[in-house]
Amino acid sequence: MKLQLSVSAVFVSSVAARTFTVFNGCPFTVWPAIFTPQGSPAPDHATGWEAPAFTAVSFFVADNWTSGRIWARRNCDFSTNPGPNSCLDGGCNGGLVCDPISGTGVPPATVAEWTLSGAGGLDSYDVSLVDGYNLPMRINNNVGCPVPECPVDLGPNCPAPLIGPFDSSGFPVGCKSACAANLDGNPTDSANCCSGSHNVPATCPSSGVAFYDYFKSNCPKSYAYAYDDATSLFSCASNLHADYTVTFCPPP
Ligand SMILES: *[C@@H]1O[C@H](CO)[C@@H](O)[C@H](O)[C@H]1NC(C)=O
Repeated sequence: MKLQLSVSAVFVSSVAARTFTVFNGCPFTVWPAIFTPQGSPAPDHATGWEAPAFTAVSFFVADNWTSGRIWARRNCDFSTNPGPNSCLDGGCNGGLVCDPISGTGVPPATVAEWTLSGAGGLDSYDVSLVDGYNLPMRINNNVGCPVPECPVDLGPNCPAPLIGPFDSSGFPVGCKSACAANLDGNPTDSANCCSGSHNVPATCPSSGVAFYDYFKSNCPKSYAYAYDDATSLFSCASNLHADYTVTFCPPP
């Protein structure tokens, strides 16, 4: 009886959901996190956890997960006053487990983004540097669809106005976006943020985004500013029911 129950549970999951795997390929602990906007079904997993070096977790994600994100936090200590500042970057409201409503990450953070079974019968997904960079990342799949990635450590050579935060040894564990660094001093009307008079693709070309080339030349298969769709938003036919793997610090 027990065996029958578990077999049918696996069957139901395999038709209604995808398997996602999150692998920490970094030689240090990171703290991955998941955010799901209201209105979308949420993955069958905690919204935040500790991932020791070279460990993986897998979980089911509904076929219609919409605008979901996965990232990882660096250098966390949740022992006092757990919250968004418990990590050097990527931290969330809530502490180790991110608040399901407001638990998005504190930039800079490299973010994997998905809409499964979206417009045109497609899964859309990308590795985003729109909120800056904090870890190398790759999104693999098991059906031969494109593989977005930013496999390079963008910290050490990050342009001086964007570099940081730094760990206790002075090593840069992030590289901010030009928007988040507030380089032009006017976040509500900014060519770096694609805001105000720059809030459509025609008035926010990549050429107007400071240091865009640093991110894009190192990581051409990542989404490097708000309107980078043409070169960086990847898709996969939804009826292939792809399973996805996010790897932090992927092999080159
Ligand atoms: C997602 O799919 C499930 C199963 O088909 C459905 O019950 C649910 O309403 C869908 N959710 C959204 C937000 O479309």
